[in-house]
Amino acid sequence: MRATVGSDLLKRRKFGSSSLEVPPIAVGCAPLGDMRETFLYSVGEDEAIATVKAALASPLDYIDTAAWYGDGESERRIGLALKELGGLPKGAVLQTKIGRSPDSDDFSGEVVRRRFERSFALLGVDRVDTVFLHGPERTDFDAAMAPGGPVEVLQGYKEQGLFDHLGVASDQSAVDQQYLETGLFDAVISSNSFTLLNTNSSDMFTYAAERGIAVLNAAPYGSGILSRGPKAYPRYFYRQAPSHLIERAEKIEAICGRHGVPLAAAALQFSLRDPRITVTIAGMSRPERIRAAIDLVSMELPDELWQEIEALGPPDSVDPSTY
Ligand SMILES: NC(=O)c1ccc[n+]([C@@H]2O[C@H](COP(=O)([O-])OP(=O)(O)OC[C@H]3O[C@@H](n4cnc5c(N)ncnc54)[C@H](OP(=O)(O)O)[C@@H]3O)[C@@H](O)[C@H]2O)c1
Repeated sequence: MRATVGSDLLKRRKFGSSSLEVPPIAVGCAPLGDMRETFLYSVGEDEAIATVKAALASPLDYIDTAAWYGDGESERRIGLALKELGGLPKGAVLQTKIGRSPDSDDFSGEVVRRRFERSFALLGVDRVDTVFLHGPERTDFDAAMAPGGPVEVLQGYKEQGLFDHLGVASDQSAVDQQYLETGLFDAVISSNSFTLLNTNSSDMFTYAAERGIAVLNAAPYGSGILSRGPKAYPRYFYRQAPSHLIERAEKIEAICGRHGVPLAAAALQFSLRDPRITVTIAGMSRPERIRAAIDLVSMELPDELWQEIEALGPPDSVDPSTY
């Protein structure tokens, strides 16, 4: 476990074996893509822009987006915020992800090239820190790695200096692992797979951390059950949660309640305390969430709370995409 004093958890961290230093939390901008079918609510443009500006004015000046989120809408809104600010503030970190076309499911090198160029145009930038191959579980490994395929296309942009780190971001840790074993990737994102309810990514995180690959843990709230609470949001991984997960979330909520701690604080710190994890990507779509996240991390949680959670037994370890 990393140092447990809340304020220590907020220190910037080295991004894998690179010289880049990043905040421990990236502001996840999937909700800013106004993806009603995924999150069950809409997010307006003004709120989205205000959220990005609040993040960039805070210690959590790290923006995570993807071409997929609202098919460019998240990137477009981030681009509007950056335009108002006159560009990405010095020291801030920006990353995006490129994958298949949502219309045709085409994951060819040519589609990835077009979507990469659209991402830069929407964001209004000429470089970003990291680009991830997004959703490779939706293509064949050999096709993705073939000459002219999506991985080679992204490597080409990296060689041109348009970004510094190439990452992989699959929804299945076994797929992430397969790409990491090529030795071509500097960073990995896994989502909904290392939370108080499910730790399916644990072995892959160990593999990556031991090799100096930056580990990014997305969706520490399991898409909302651990931030909004299991009554308000009985879902996990963007769909109805299985009953054993809801029961565990209720038990953890009760433990947190006895200690006077918000469930979201335990969920966020569970990820931040793990020494293998470089960055936790938490989804937020309101400016006040930035301050709230800092407050949740700054709280000192008693050891007894972690002991009581541990006494519940280990979290589920199956691939959450099978729920
Ligand atoms: N394969 C991949 O690369 C991949 C996959 C999934 C996600 N991601 C990235 O990771 C990010 C995080 O995942 P996620 O957004 O799906 O799930 P999440 O971070 O587990 O949960 C986000 C939800 O928690 C809510 N929330 C945040 N802070 C809160 C607080 N203090 N109190 C109450 N509710 C709070 C948000 O509400 P509001 O919207 O109202 O703020 C949102 O509904 C995404 O946005 C995306 O950037 C990457």
